[in-house]
Amino acid sequence: MQQPRAVTGTATAPDAQASGAVPLVRANGVTLQYKTPDHLVTATYRVSFDIFPAERYVILGPSGCGKSTILKAIAGFLKPVEGSFTLKGKPVTGPGPDRLMVFQEFDQLLPWKTVLGNVMFPMLENGVSRADAERRAREALAKVNLADFVDVYPHMLSGGMKQRCAIARAMAMKPDVLMMDEPYAALDALTRRKMQDELLQLWNDIRFTLVFVTHSIEEAVILGSRILVLSPHPGQVRAELNSPGFAYDARSGAAFQELVQKISQMLFGDRGGSH
Ligand SMILES: Nc1ncnc2c1ncn2[C@@H]1O[C@H](COP(=O)(O)OP(=O)(O)OP(=O)(O)O)[C@@H](O)[C@H]1O
Ligand SMILES: [Mg+2]
Repeated sequence: MQQPRAVTGTATAPDAQASGAVPLVRANGVTLQYKTPDHLVTATYRVSFDIFPAERYVILGPSGCGKSTILKAIAGFLKPVEGSFTLKGKPVTGPGPDRLMVFQEFDQLLPWKTVLGNVMFPMLENGVSRADAERRAREALAKVNLADFVDVYPHMLSGGMKQRCAIARAMAMKPDVLMMDEPYAALDALTRRKMQDELLQLWNDIRFTLVFVTHSIEEAVILGSRILVLSPHPGQVRAELNSPGFAYDARSGAAFQELVQKISQMLFGDRGGSH
């Protein structure tokens, strides 16, 4: 396995907050509910957080605490019943190409289109001219180190390369925020680790704003520059923590374990456990 470079970027939020910068995404006392014919399900209750540019913002919490619901709401598919979301200071009123989701297992790549065709596809669908779409697609693919693979088909790519292709496809649309919802949950431990490191390396190269959802504490600590810890259903904010960024070798070290333990305590109290 390729030895990952150390990820040096830490939370930018303290600086950004100190300078009074406008957050990219702000959740302000957000309560999210689902109405079913015979139930009203409260998914999150008065959740607030700010996400600043180039953060790796992880939303962590147990199953059912409303993580996916928060992403849906940031994406504009669900309106809060209380509170609001803003993007660069403007209220989120619906979906837009400025907030893109990279879907689970990256199987959204079209198997009959080449890598280049896949990256161009959403731009063409959104009215970008063919020449511009191709230029932007090639640029994005070069950034994720797939310049030599533009003409191959998805089945010829490794899992990591598919991930990079899916991210290039999103990046070419120039979104403000890239969202991922438990993308590695179904992977075996080794592949998962590899994908996490690929993602970190990519972030190190291009510094996009990432909102990443997981219920794995270790994954949150590995990937996040900041971590929002949510309580069990309905999700409320337990804490928000900075993670210094742990290089591969540091993940067996004391500082890593300490942070994992601290979060575990927050989530499970005395019961312990990592999920
Ligand atoms: N479409 C829906 N209709 C009704 N209730 C829903 C719907 N989607 C989710 N819920 C409920 O809202 C709550 C939050 O769900 P959500 O999917 O956001 O949790 P999650 O934190 O993403 O969980 P997981 O880690 O299992 O993916 C849960 O109680 C769930 O049952
Ligand atoms: Mg979910």
